[in-house]
Amino acid sequence: MPKHRDADADGHSADDIRWMTEALELASHGRGKVEPNPPVGCVLVRDSVCIGKGFHQRFGGPHAEVEALSDCADAAGATAYVTLEPCCHHGKTPPCADALIRAGVARVIVSVVDPFEQVDGGGIKRLRAAGIEVITGVAKQAGEELLAAYLKRVRTGMPWVIAKWAMSLDGRIATKTGESKWITGPAARNAVHELRASADAIAVCMGSVVADNPLLTVRLPEFVRAQTDDGKTTNSASESRPLVRLVYSRRRLPDLNSQLVQTASETPTWLVAGPEISNADLAKLADHDVETWQCESADPVEMIRQSLLWLGSNDNPRGLAMTHLMVEGGSQLLGSFAAAGQIDEVHAFIAGKCIGGSLAPGPLGDPGIENLADATPLRISRMDSFNNDVRLIYRR
Ligand SMILES: NC(=O)c1ccc[n+]([C@@H]2O[C@H](COP(=O)([O-])OP(=O)(O)OC[C@H]3O[C@@H](n4cnc5c(N)ncnc54)[C@H](OP(=O)(O)O)[C@@H]3O)[C@@H](O)[C@H]2O)c1
Repeated sequence: MPKHRDADADGHSADDIRWMTEALELASHGRGKVEPNPPVGCVLVRDSVCIGKGFHQRFGGPHAEVEALSDCADAAGATAYVTLEPCCHHGKTPPCADALIRAGVARVIVSVVDPFEQVDGGGIKRLRAAGIEVITGVAKQAGEELLAAYLKRVRTGMPWVIAKWAMSLDGRIATKTGESKWITGPAARNAVHELRASADAIAVCMGSVVADNPLLTVRLPEFVRAQTDDGKTTNSASESRPLVRLVYSRRRLPDLNSQLVQTASETPTWLVAGPEISNADLAKLADHDVETWQCESADPVEMIRQSLLWLGSNDNPRGLAMTHLMVEGGSQLLGSFAAAGQIDEVHAFIAGKCIGGSLAPGPLGDPGIENLADATPLRISRMDSFNNDVRLIYRR
């Protein structure tokens, strides 16, 4: 068959790519609100006209296909552009493949095939068995980019890790005396709060807890909501997924008077503890409502691996797998994440000031790499400026 004049390398038509791009844009509005579900968008098109559209808006709510079908009176004969393969299993909602079949759509165009074991091609198979034409892989790179965190969790059982740091123009995250408040200005720090609001958890390590006594909450007017009935603060984009503050500690424990411990009864606070920490010490934190979890290994890199598997499972104290973990430092913790090969995305905020001195730390501490060939390649994804500060976002 001749390729469409403006087809991509895989022969997908320019129209299919255009409508899928619209569905991907819609899907992106669910980011931060639907996890651990994937953000999904759907556009229904007949005779080159959009007749319905929708996206998955909140965890447990209707899927994108159902939202789009309820947005149009009659979808018979239409083409459905869906960013992720329609599901074929009963989860919190009935199978979307069945809804599309019942609506009488003629074609289903999919960007990414869902690797989730209860779907994994089953939705496509069911649609084809019903006589519907199905094309996959349209705008696949953009689809995989949007779904990167979901795909990592389904494939590895671990959340997507966003490393965030603020550094001087000469690459230091603190002075040689440990002072780091504030390297960047208020506008850049606001962007950090927005990033926190879309994450499941923020991780820091003991060095930073001692140096900075941080609160690690989202301090934006639209997210500082009234407390919920059970007294917890809902400081995230999703009410069903309040932001968790996560402290990594191999030996030292946070002071019981620290801001994190003192506010643990209002804002979920969990501790990932090394095996050397005694049960008695963990119990003291538990008395202050800090959830504690002890790693079997004291090796910093293995602690990262084990803790990510725990966070990405339904066995964590929230009972719901985490999809996005934001790591705010300090440098030793970030060095451990890098050594574990677990930094998926970097948000580097860079300020127009220099610090200097060989004792002032850089963002990634030990162990580091010996050869440049061993560096994990990251791709620039976005650049923003905040007055005199910039943010560079790089992704795997
Ligand atoms: N500009 C920024 O964006 C930014 C952000 C955060 C922090 N900072 C600054 O960075 C400095 C703190 O950084 P840091 O490198 O000294 O401290 P850190 O990474 O916060 O904590 C280091 C300590 O954590 C423990 N540790 C290291 N790896 C671990 C792992 N994988 N699991 C569990 N525990 C682990 C070790 O203590 P034990 O082995 O003794 O337990 C280590 O001494 C402060 O000055 C702070 O202000 C700057």
